[in-house]
Formats: sequence, structure tokens, C-alpha cells
Amino acid sequence: MDGSCNIVLFIFVWLLTLSNVDLCICNASSEVQCIPIEQDALLKMKRHLSDPSNRLASWSPHENCCNWALVVCHNITGHVLELHLTSPPPFEFINGETIYETSVFGGEVHPSLLDLKHLNYLDLSGNYFGDMQIPNFLGLMSSLTYLNLSDAGFGGSIPIQFWNLSNLIYLDLGRNYNLEGSIPHQIGKLTNLQYLDLGDNDFNGSFPHQIGNLSNLHYLDLRGNEFSGSIPHQIGNLSNLHYLDLRGNEFSGSIPHQIGNLSNLINLHLGNRLLSISVENLRSILTLSSLQYLELGYVNLSNTFDWL
Ligand SMILES: *[C@@H]1O[C@H](CO)[C@@H](O)[C@H](O)[C@H]1NC(C)=O
Ligand SMILES: *[C@@H]1O[C@H](CO)[C@@H](O)[C@H](O)[C@H]1NC(C)=O
Ligand SMILES: *[C@@H]1O[C@H](CO)[C@@H](O)[C@H](O)[C@H]1NC(C)=O
Ligand SMILES: *[C@@H]1O[C@H](CO)[C@@H](O)[C@H](O)[C@H]1NC(C)=O
Ligand SMILES: *[C@@H]1O[C@H](CO)[C@@H](O)[C@H](O)[C@H]1NC(C)=O
Ligand SMILES: *[C@@H]1O[C@H](CO)[C@@H](O)[C@H](O)[C@H]1NC(C)=O
Ligand SMILES: *[C@@H]1O[C@H](CO)[C@@H](O)[C@H](O)[C@H]1NC(C)=O
Ligand SMILES: *[C@@H]1O[C@H](CO)[C@@H](O)[C@H](O)[C@H]1NC(C)=O
Ligand SMILES: *[C@@H]1O[C@H](CO)[C@@H](O)[C@H](O)[C@H]1NC(C)=O
Repeated sequence: MDGSCNIVLFIFVWLLTLSNVDLCICNASSEVQCIPIEQDALLKMKRHLSDPSNRLASWSPHENCCNWALVVCHNITGHVLELHLTSPPPFEFINGETIYETSVFGGEVHPSLLDLKHLNYLDLSGNYFGDMQIPNFLGLMSSLTYLNLSDAGFGGSIPIQFWNLSNLIYLDLGRNYNLEGSIPHQIGKLTNLQYLDLGDNDFNGSFPHQIGNLSNLHYLDLRGNEFSGSIPHQIGNLSNLHYLDLRGNEFSGSIPHQIGNLSNLINLHLGNRLLSISVENLRSILTLSSLQYLELGYVNLSNTFDWL
């Protein structure tokens, strides 16, 4: 009896020792220190944001900013890499009732963000910035690869500097409703983009043919704007596209036959009341082997049926 008790005790002590060693290793890797300039930049940013439900309570000058909520630092250098300042939808359904919450961020996005020289991920989606313009200084944040400003209540036209963010891979400006003006040819500089959502805004004018330069695009959503003129046939150059949504615009003329060359398309939405499609074109689209979803909406089919 005494013997087995000692063995149990021994194993227990041995386990304790082991877990101490583990803790020590954990300590070594989790104690990454925030860079003081970056901590100050974030504190300044916090002062200019409205935060009605105090979601940034952990953003305190006495706490290492790498341990703050919604902040991700590089695990060795301590530079701030990611800001996840997104808010969930401002309502939930509880027992069949809609409960509204005011947990969204608002106010001003402060240029102190420019001090975060290594920031590559910025998510401000789901907030409400009162139809404020997208700030000019964002166009200088060249380290960004992910920028999500969707459903954030931005308005007005996009500053021209913005199209200088040539490292972007993901750009989501969807569902701001009041973003307006035309998209400039400088969009052709964002050659690393894989994901572009401009949907559900008030953009107008013709869509620049320089879109054909963005050969890495997988996802292109222009739905629900007022783009007019013909669909640039250079879209046919985007051979990696698997999602293309052009519905609900004022595009006119015929659908470019080059769309029939997008052999990776899975989802295609074309519904535009002024567009028409030829029978050859429809046939080439229908033979795209990866296509799973085709929506023609109000596309003018009268020509097509004349041919049939
Ligand atoms: C654990 O962290 C403390 C300070 O946070 C540090 O002084 C100590 O060296 C760390 N331990 C190891 C093994 O690195
Ligand atoms: C640091 O992060 C990288 C990826 O971001 C990961 O591969 C690596 O294992 C991490 N290192 C430590 C010490 O946690
Ligand atoms: C942007 O954020 C919205 C809402 O949080 C999300 O639905 C969407 O997928 C995000 N976009 C990207 C490119 O991750
Ligand atoms: C955009 O970047 C180019 C260089 O790539 C630079 O010459 C130009 O001044 C920048 N434009 C703005 C508006 O910052
Ligand atoms: C197309 O992309 C190249 C870089 O791949 C760039 O040099 C060029 O200016 C872009 N063209 C347009 C029209 O934006
Ligand atoms: C686009 O909308 C703006 C107002 O947002 C207007 O001034 C401009 O004339 C429109 N352009 C076209 C081509 O409809
Ligand atoms: C589209 O691809 C063709 C070759 O298939 C090329 O000659 C043309 O320059 C490309 N256009 C654009 C805008 O990238
Ligand atoms: C698709 O591309 C090939 C060459 O890459 C070309 O010969 C053909 O005409 C194109 N088809 C359509 C429908 O654009
Ligand atoms: C549809 O196309 C036919 C033939 O081109 C044309 O006569 C008719 O006006 C078009 N309808 C609409 C609503 O544009």
C-alpha cells in the first residue's frame, strides 16, 4: 500500500514539474511586447472612436497592447499586424423578437493608424461612420493586404489615393449604400486582388476596362450599383474568376462573348434590364463545365428567341 502511494505521489510531483516546464515555454512565447509608438497610435485611435458598449475596455495604457481585444501582434517582433474592429449585426432574434443593440463603432478613424507600419489586416465592417468619406490617409497604408469596410456607413466618392493600395488581396466595400462616383482606371494597379466587392452602393459611370489587369481575381461583385455602358470585354481575361455578379446595374448592349471563356466560373449573375444576349453567347456560357448557378434576371432574351 505504502509503495503504490509513493509511486502515485512521485508521478504527481513529476507531472507538476513537467507542467512548470511547459508554463515556462508558454511564458517565453506569449510575452511578446507591444511597440510603444504603436500602442500610443491605438490609444489615440480609441479616443476618436465612439464605442457605446465599451468593447475596447482592455485598451489601457497600462496593458501590453498585444494582449488587447481585437488586436493581433506579430508573435516575435510585437508589431501590430491585424485590427479586427468589426461589429456583429446590430440586432439579434431572441424568442421571435428583434433586439437592437448599439454595440457598433462610429466616430472618426484617426490618422494615427499610419504609425502601424506593419498592419496588414484592417476590418471595420459592420460599423456606422455616418456617411463619412473614406479617409484619404488609408491610401498610404501600403502594408494592407486585407481591407474590409463593408456595411460600415461610409459615403461619398473614394479618394484617388485609395487606388494606390497595390498590396491588397481582399477589398470589401460592399453594402455602404452611399459610396458614389465612378471607379477610376487606377483600379488596374491593384493587380494582387483576389476578392473585390463593390456591391450595393451608388457607383456609376462606365466600368474601367483596366479590370482586365486584375488577373488574380476569384471573386468580383459589382451588383446593385448604377454602372452603365457596355460590360468591358476584358472581364473575359479574368480566367480565375469563380464568382461574377453584375446584376442590378444599368449595363447595356450585349454581354461580351469573352465571358464564355471563363472556364472556372461557378456563379454568374447577369441580370441587367438593358442587356441582351445572343444565342451563341448563351450556348457558350451554358457549356462552361464548372458553372453551377446562372442568373439572367431581366436580361433581354428577345434576340435569342428570334434565333431559336
Ligand atoms: C517569462 O516572462 C518574464 C517576464 O514577463 C521574463 O522575465 C522571463 O524571462 C520569462 N521566462 C522565460 C523562460 O523566458
Ligand atoms: C508565429 O506565427 C507563425 C505564423 O503566423 C507561426 O507559423 C509560428 O509558429 C509562430 N511562432 C511562435 C513561436 O508562436
Ligand atoms: C467583410 O465583413 C463582412 C461582415 O463582417 C463579411 O460578411 C465579409 O465576408 C467580409 N469580407 C471579406 C472579404 O472577408
Ligand atoms: C500613388 O503612388 C504613386 C507611386 O506608385 C505616386 O507617384 C503617387 O503620388 C501616389 N498617389 C497618391 C495620390 O498618393
Ligand atoms: C497593369 O498592371 C501592371 C503591373 O502588373 C502595371 O504596371 C500597369 O500599370 C497596370 N495597368 C493598368 C492599366 O492599370
Ligand atoms: C454619377 O453620379 C454623380 C453624383 O454622384 C454625378 O455627378 C455624375 O454626373 C454621375 N455620372 C454619370 C456618368 O452618371
Ligand atoms: C487580355 O488577354 C489578352 C491575351 O489573352 C492580352 O493580349 C490582353 O492584353 C489582355 N488584356 C488586359 C487588359 O489585360
Ligand atoms: C476564348 O479564348 C480563345 C483563346 O484563348 C479564343 O480563341 C476564343 O475565341 C475565346 N472564346 C471566346 C468565347 O471568347
Ligand atoms: C429587347 O431587344 C429587342 C431586340 O433587340 C428590342 O426590340 C427591345 O426593345 C428590347 N427590349 C428592351 C426592354 O430593351
